[in-house]
Amino acid sequence: NLPRKVKIVEVGPRDGLQNEKENVPAPVKIELVDRLSRAGFANIEAASFVSPKWVPQMATSSEVMAGIARRPGTLYSALTPNMQGFEAALAAGAGEVVIFGAASEAFSQRNINCSIAESIARFEPVAKAAKANGLRLRASISTAFGCPYQGEVPLDAVADVVARMRDLGCDEIDIADTIGVSTPRKTQAVMLRAAQKFPLERLSGHFHDTYGQALANIYASMEVGVAIFHSSVAGLGGCPYAKGATGNVASEDVLYMMHGLGIETGVDLDQVVDAGQFISQHLGRKAVSRAGNAIAAK
Ligand code: HMG
Ligand code: MG
Repeated sequence: NLPRKVKIVEVGPRDGLQNEKENVPAPVKIELVDRLSRAGFANIEAASFVSPKWVPQMATSSEVMAGIARRPGTLYSALTPNMQGFEAALAAGAGEVVIFGAASEAFSQRNINCSIAESIARFEPVAKAAKANGLRLRASISTAFGCPYQGEVPLDAVADVVARMRDLGCDEIDIADTIGVSTPRKTQAVMLRAAQKFPLERLSGHFHDTYGQALANIYASMEVGVAIFHSSVAGLGGCPYAKGATGNVASEDVLYMMHGLGIETGVDLDQVVDAGQFISQHLGRKAVSRAGNAIAAK
């Protein structure tokens, strides 16, 4: 009973590039975002308004948002950890802001320098301001399947943060496997627990492919009704606060699987492959996408 149609949120320009040590110039990021919107993605995570001391690569976010050719029908999202980030995202013309918390206390401290409770208090004015300004509001919940610092994360901890994000008025909530440790049955259990607190059709799966489980986890999520997934062109990324974490599942691989299953995505795979080759050439390494590299080699 798989969905007929899914929404794929392209997170490469943010989750992918945020982890690059070498500065990627804004014009390259702009070209990447534009290639991805032309490929048909209806939602691209293009920017992150966080402290440049914490994540230097995202310091060009305003420049990127100002330079992209906005495609009608594409929603451009930006991460906003606090009001300072929100004001910058609003000024930059983001269509959706993303508050990001964690299901584990240890990760919350390492990533955003505060407890889960403190983070929710910080998100409250951001959520209100998003609503007041007519912006879409999304929440991302890191370490929902395991934490690099505390290990196991109880299902109740995930459910609790989902409920708190719901109470802030989120339109969509991401259940994130920051370090890619989940396996399909566990994924289903976490998704179903989250769905007790928030409508399943507005939950999304954000899977990193560290242990090679991401496609299996996506498939397992679809089996229980999830129909929104995040992926990253060329498998870019990792997380600066999760050592050893690899990129998100590659967009090319997800699209190849979806199209093979006859599931509609609205995205042109060949154009995504080109975008993946473009950014990989810039970074001077091979794309981390099996399907992408196979198609590019034809
Ligand atoms: P803090 O140091 O506790 O914040 O950091 P603060 O309020 O005390 O401010 C300290 C300094 O940061 C001040 O500057 C502020 O102006 C500045 P100073 O006076 O020292 O010159 N500052 C900012 N600058 C720009 N934009 C802002 C901003 N806020 C404060 N928005 C803070 C707290 C949250 C800011 C910091 O910890 C931070 O930026 N963390 C970001 C971490 C991050 O971006 N992680 C990666 C994204 S999450 C992720 O990838 C996971 C996800 O993909 C899902 C998954 O896979 O799990 C979403
Ligand atoms: Mg991530």
